[in-house]
Amino acid sequence: MKAVIIYFTGTGNTKFLANLLKAQLENQNHFIVDLFSIDSSSTLIDLKPYDYIIFSYPIYAFNAPIIFDKYVKKLYLPKNKTYIIAKQSGEPLSLNDSSSYYLIKRIKKSKNVLFNEYHFLLPYNIHFRYEDDFIKELLRYDNKLLDIMSYEIKNNISRKVKYNPLYALNTFIFKIQRLGGPINSYFYKVDYSKCIHCNRCLNNCPTKSIKLINEKYKFKNSCIMCMRCSFNCPTNAIHIGFLESWKVNGVYNYEKIISDDSLKGEFLKQHKSTFYNFFPKKIEKINELHKEYFGK
Ligand SMILES: Cc1cc2nc3c(=O)[nH]c(=O)nc-3n(C[C@H](O)[C@H](O)[C@H](O)COP(=O)(O)O)c2cc1C
Repeated sequence: MKAVIIYFTGTGNTKFLANLLKAQLENQNHFIVDLFSIDSSSTLIDLKPYDYIIFSYPIYAFNAPIIFDKYVKKLYLPKNKTYIIAKQSGEPLSLNDSSSYYLIKRIKKSKNVLFNEYHFLLPYNIHFRYEDDFIKELLRYDNKLLDIMSYEIKNNISRKVKYNPLYALNTFIFKIQRLGGPINSYFYKVDYSKCIHCNRCLNNCPTKSIKLINEKYKFKNSCIMCMRCSFNCPTNAIHIGFLESWKVNGVYNYEKIISDDSLKGEFLKQHKSTFYNFFPKKIEKINELHKEYFGK
């Protein structure tokens, strides 16, 4: 079987997930898997050669990123294929469920049925930085979800995604945030006392929204708030307008987190604030399903 994972990543988490999915499907399901990353210059991929088509994206304010939805809108979705969604975000709120409603509608419109969708958990790239031990715990959840996905594909276990009109309304209301990128980009600034002119921001912006004019970086209005420029800036020189106090700078080192045995991944036991209380229920559900399928 041949599969393709079509994904958009702002700061690398979805890319990391896409690689995990690829390894899982190759090792457990013996698929041949291609990866396809979306940016503003991506050509439309021909999906006919694939049996399984997997869409993956980070959730932005209860929506899929605008660049992802725009790409999917143009894509021809052939019939008689298996479509899967593997979305990911920082927290497990059910309100995030509706971020895929547009994509599901698109799949239905092409006379296909969504096989299943899976919601993985990875650290925030905005708001605040997750601690390594917490990430270790989330990766344990993600690995169980990967096992579940493989098993359901192998055994053809498909689940209907429930439509919740209130979640859909919430997603619609938060679509307004898509204006946030173009507006907020006027307030982006570079601190030239820190900037080393490495051009990393300029060269990697997925919408080519950053220009270099007279040796100064200008942030144009095709910004989609993916955070790639400020997150990857090696000297933390980019000021991100109204979101400055929510900025996260510096990549998550997954390799180090995975191999560090001093990290036990037991963060949630010690952290009981409202934010962290959203996690155990979601994790428990996955633990139960994993136990049902694998006995552990
Ligand atoms: C503009 C923006 C909005 C976000 N909104 C949400 C959200 O509503 N819920 C959530 O759980 N995470 C949210 N996040 C966090 C990302 O979904 C999360 O960090 C994700 O792993 C980033 O993936 P990436 O590295 O592939 O871009 C948001 C991130 C950004 C940049």
